[in-house]
Amino acid sequence: MLSIDLHDRVSFVTGAARGIGRACAEALAQAGAAIAVVDVDGEGAARTASEIAGRYGVAARAYACDVRDPGAIRAAVDRAASELGGLDHLVNNAGVQFVAPVPEFPDDKYANVRAIDLDSVFYMSKAAWKHLAAKKRGRIVNVASVQGLIGSPFKIAYVAAKHGVVGMTKVLAIEGAEIGITANAICPGAVMTDLVRGQAAGLVASYGGGISEEEALERAFLDAMPTKRFIEPDEVGALCAFLCSDFAVSITGAAVSIDGGWAAH
Ligand SMILES: NC(=O)c1ccc[n+]([C@@H]2O[C@H](COP(=O)([O-])OP(=O)(O)OC[C@H]3O[C@@H](n4cnc5c(N)ncnc54)[C@H](O)[C@@H]3O)[C@@H](O)[C@H]2O)c1
Repeated sequence: MLSIDLHDRVSFVTGAARGIGRACAEALAQAGAAIAVVDVDGEGAARTASEIAGRYGVAARAYACDVRDPGAIRAAVDRAASELGGLDHLVNNAGVQFVAPVPEFPDDKYANVRAIDLDSVFYMSKAAWKHLAAKKRGRIVNVASVQGLIGSPFKIAYVAAKHGVVGMTKVLAIEGAEIGITANAICPGAVMTDLVRGQAAGLVASYGGGISEEEALERAFLDAMPTKRFIEPDEVGALCAFLCSDFAVSITGAAVSIDGGWAAH
């Protein structure tokens, strides 16, 4: 029988208080892994960790950490490794979006998206490297986006950051190959989370108004996906758990689409 067994593994998941990160943490826990729930929202992380521990019977701890801060990243990674028994899986999931046309895109929003969505993947991977190498079966899963493969209007910071994540993933894969570390990017299409809901007002404005938030979300997301349905966070979680499993030992440097066919056209 094909089943994913991650007992005796430790997973460190950023942005895991809610949304896709939480779904990845839950899928990994369901397969038996101990979980570090890492998020800038410390209370949300604590709530999620306690629910995961209760539901799946694994060790789960919360680490409040702003992934814009390299010092906080190093501290959280080392603390989680010491408290949970090393580190097998690093899931770089924390991410934000900001939507505006290029001439109006605020400089500080550009810098913020870049720091959270791209630079943190570098600092996290660097901090986790020695722990992953020690186990000789490390997994890095970077939650990129379909927008790491193609462009969309009004998302210049996000598209640039996610293309950067796909590029970083390839370097991590090449450098990790000889020491048992795989690195892959997951490229989801539209998953109905707070990140998508939060774009509605900006999209209405960018389209020039006169449409509802629901219409704006459909135009921005569902029109692009041949399957015409929002993806469930659990679907991304299951893919993440598979990429962390022994079955995926030869999958590395890949950008795996889970996008309802968005990038196919
Ligand atoms: N929702 C989608 O349609 C979609 C599609 C493709 C890719 N993604 C990517 O999936 C990832 C998760 O997105 P989501 O939809 O679950 O979003 P979400 O807004 O529901 O959750 C994001 C999580 O990241 C945390 N976070 C934000 N800034 C942080 C920081 N500075 N430090 C630490 N944690 C921080 C938030 O507190 C939150 O818990 C992101 O990288 C996003 O770009 C999402």
